[in-house]
Amino acid sequence: MALLDVEDLSVTFRRRGQRTVHAVDGVSFSVDAGEVVALVGESGCGKSVTSLALMGLLPRRGAQVGGSANFDGTELLALDQRSMRDIRGKDVAMIFQDPLSSLNPVIPIGIQVTEVLVRHRGMSGDAARKEAANLLDRVGIPDPRRRLKEYPHQLSGGMRQRALIAIAVACQPRLLIADEPTTALDVTIQAQILELLKELVRDSNTALIMITHDLGVVAGMCDMINVLYAGRVVESARRKELFAAPRHPYTVGLLRSIPRLDVGRGEKLTPIRGSVRDVLPWSEGCAFAPRCDRRIDASIGEPPPMVPTHTGHSYRCVNPVPVEEKA
Ligand SMILES: Nc1ncnc2c1ncn2[C@@H]1O[C@H](COP(=O)(O)OP(=O)(O)O)[C@@H](O)[C@H]1O
Ligand SMILES: [Mg+2]
Repeated sequence: MALLDVEDLSVTFRRRGQRTVHAVDGVSFSVDAGEVVALVGESGCGKSVTSLALMGLLPRRGAQVGGSANFDGTELLALDQRSMRDIRGKDVAMIFQDPLSSLNPVIPIGIQVTEVLVRHRGMSGDAARKEAANLLDRVGIPDPRRRLKEYPHQLSGGMRQRALIAIAVACQPRLLIADEPTTALDVTIQAQILELLKELVRDSNTALIMITHDLGVVAGMCDMINVLYAGRVVESARRKELFAAPRHPYTVGLLRSIPRLDVGRGEKLTPIRGSVRDVLPWSEGCAFAPRCDRRIDASIGEPPPMVPTHTGHSYRCVNPVPVEEKA
């Protein structure tokens, strides 16, 4: 049994007078203590909705959640608000894509970090302040002692994001969900943050769910990668195998759009053609078919099933990329 087992998770948004949206459509994955699992896909594929569902943070009206999410024996999707609040912050923490909304605007950054250390790690005033400064330093916030006294509005967007990461790390949660934690940051800071998250996993045996639209971000740190398209997992494999032998044309497309240091500057990246809006409903075939060069007759009509292989690598495609034809 993994620390978190997500089975057949679905989230449907229904609003009167609006189109029903199957934002998450039968997603399954699991994460163990000390393991890093990635959810990767372009904008709109259901990454944030998946994490909000797990955290019990979806709007209560209009969002219908199905499936199960078992966290160390507790069914997260069945918890009432109060029990969920107890688990949040203590056992399960999340770094949000939008940092402004998750810091308290009227409390100095330092108190917000120190508070977590006092509450969750039983530290006392002085030790907690010292550790808070140390954490800000580790997420790349210069002059941490001065910054501790500042309010969120006095920090730039990038600094706020780093402060939030410091708070999440301070909790030493058993499970951390990081939703595009480095998207707004420059590459140097990004590398520093990824390093810090790796350290957290190693030192605290934290289970980490890394959410990103950029396969390059997870190339150096994930154990397992799940590629999402239109609310479903379309390919799932251990990192090495996914990079070495991607089978789903969408994964190959994502790999081709990673900026590479080993390719000359003149060389163009190849973005996947079309946009995520060109989807087919899964009930009518492969949602990626309208953008896919490998589309065949069998891609349309029925939803493609997930094909398992003996190595734990699976993909949802009726005309997969041959193994030798690398991206
Ligand atoms: N509150 C909401 N009401 C209706 N649709 C939503 C809501 N939140 C997200 N969606 C839709 O769900 C889909 C997945 O969104 P999201 O999980 O935010 O994507 P991403 O992978 O970029 O994080 C999108 O089509 C989005 O428009
Ligand atoms: Mg998102």
